[in-house]
Amino acid sequence: MEKIIIFDTTLRDGEQSPGASLNNKEKLEIAKQLETLGVDVIEAGFPASSPGDFESVKAIAKTIKKAIVCGLARAVKSDIDAAYRAVRPAKNPRIHVFLATSKIHMKYKLKKAKSEILKTAVWAVKYAKRKVKDVEFSPEDASRTDKRFLYEVVEAVIDAGATTVNIPDTVGYATPYEFGELIKGIKMNVPNMHKAVISIHCHNDLGLGVSNSLAAILNGARQAECTINGLGERAGNASLEEIVMAIATRGDILNFKTKIKTKEIYKTSRLVSKLTGIPVQPNKAIVGANAFAHEAGIHQDGLLKERTTYEIMKPQHVGFEETKLVLGKHSGRHALKARLKKMGYTLTDKEVGKAFVRFKKLADKKKQIFDEDLAAIVEDEIGTTPEVYKLVSFYILSGNKVTPSATVTLKHEGRNLIASSTGDGPVDACYKAVEKIAFIKPKLLSYNLSAVTAGEDALGEVSIRIKIKKHEVNGRGASTDVVEASLKAYLNALNKFKVLNAK
Ligand code: KIV
Ligand code: ZN
Repeated sequence: MEKIIIFDTTLRDGEQSPGASLNNKEKLEIAKQLETLGVDVIEAGFPASSPGDFESVKAIAKTIKKAIVCGLARAVKSDIDAAYRAVRPAKNPRIHVFLATSKIHMKYKLKKAKSEILKTAVWAVKYAKRKVKDVEFSPEDASRTDKRFLYEVVEAVIDAGATTVNIPDTVGYATPYEFGELIKGIKMNVPNMHKAVISIHCHNDLGLGVSNSLAAILNGARQAECTINGLGERAGNASLEEIVMAIATRGDILNFKTKIKTKEIYKTSRLVSKLTGIPVQPNKAIVGANAFAHEAGIHQDGLLKERTTYEIMKPQHVGFEETKLVLGKHSGRHALKARLKKMGYTLTDKEVGKAFVRFKKLADKKKQIFDEDLAAIVEDEIGTTPEVYKLVSFYILSGNKVTPSATVTLKHEGRNLIASSTGDGPVDACYKAVEKIAFIKPKLLSYNLSAVTAGEDALGEVSIRIKIKKHEVNGRGASTDVVEASLKAYLNALNKFKVLNAK
C-alpha cells in the first residue's frame, strides 16, 4: 500500500478563514496536537506576513520533533529569507514557495509574462534550496493554468530542486474527473516528475475539495494538503478528517495508507473549533455532533440488530465515545428499551409499553428527550429506580455530649461496602459515610422531613434535592426512623444520579 503524505495547513490556510485568528500560544497548542494526530507536515504559517506569524512559526519549529515544519513564502527574497529564519530551528524544515501561473493571475495580479514567471519560479526554488533541502513549489491557480505552461513550470522547478510540487485548485473551480485528469497529465507529460512528490491543495468553493483530492490521489498525487474541520480561505480547504477516513474506510477503492492516528481526530477537531471560535456544523462528516447520531426508528432498530446496517465507520475509530441514538418523535420502542436498559432499568415488555406511550406523547411536545425525562417517566409510570446502592445497615452514635458518628453498610455490585464518618448530626454523619463509599461529593440543595401518617408510630418521609456534577436530582425515603428515612432518600437520589450518569 502506498502512503499518502498528510500536509496539514490549518495553521496557515485554515487561519485565513474569516474570523479565525489564533494567538501564538493557541497555534503551538494546535501544532502539538497535530503532531499527536500523526500529520507528516505542519504548515505552521506565512512568516513574512506578520511578526506574529513569524514568531509562531519559529516557536512551532523549535517544539515539533517528528513532523516536517513548513513556512510559506512568495517567490521573493525577503519572504524566503523570513521563512528560512522561522523554520530553521526545526528538525525537519521545509520552505513552500508559491507563484501564480494562470493567465488571469499573471495578467491582472502579477502583471508579468509567462517567461518572467518561469524565470522567477526557478530562481525562487534555487534560492530556497540554498537554505533547506526540502523545498515545495506551488503554481498558484494551477487548475486554471494553461496545461502546456503548467508542465513547463513543473519541470523547471523540479530541475531547480523542488522535492514536492503542489497543484492547487486555488479557487475551488475544478471537478473531480477533470482534476484527476490534470494530475494524470502532469505525470505523463513532465519528464522529471518521478524526482518529486505530486501534492494537491483543493479549495471547497463548489463543495468538491475532498472529491477532487481523492480523484487526484487515484491519479498519482501522493501528498494531500488539507485542514482540520475543512477550515480555510472562503469556503475552506479539503477537510483532513474526510480525506483520511475516506482512505481508511474505502480501502477497496483507495488502496492507500496514512500515518494518521484516527482516534485523535475528534479531539483535534474540538480543539481547533474551540481555539478558532468556529463551530463545527452538526451534520459535518466525521466530526459533526450528528455524525454518529441516529434518530429514525427504522435506523435505530436496524442499528440495534446490526451496527453496520446504518454505520460505515465505528465512532470510536475517530475518537467519539459511541453511537448516539437520539430519542425523539421518530424513535421506536426498541431504541427506548435499549436506552432504558443502559440507564439501569430492567423493565418488562408491558412496562416498556407503558413508558413508550408516555414517551411518544412527550416527544410530540419536546424535540429531544433527555435521560432526565426518561427517568421521570419511568419513576412516574412504573415507580422504580434501580438500586445501584442499597442500604444494608447503619449504626449511629449521637448525643448532646458526643460528636455524632455513623457507620453505614451499602450493597453495591454484589459486595458490602462499609464506611464511617462523623458529622454535625447523625444524618450528616450518615450522608458523609455514604459519600465515602460512593466517592461523590454532592451539594445538598434542600432537605424536608414530614410525617406521612398521624400517631406515635407515624411514618416519617424525607424529601431531598441534591446536585452532583451537572445533574440535580430528588430523592424520597420513608421510615418510622427519621435517620433511616433520611438515608433512604439520599440513596434514592444517588441511585437516580447513577442512572443519569450511566454511559
Ligand atoms: O490556495 C492556494 O493556492 C494556496 C497556495 C499558497 C498553495 O493556498
Ligand atoms: Zn489555499
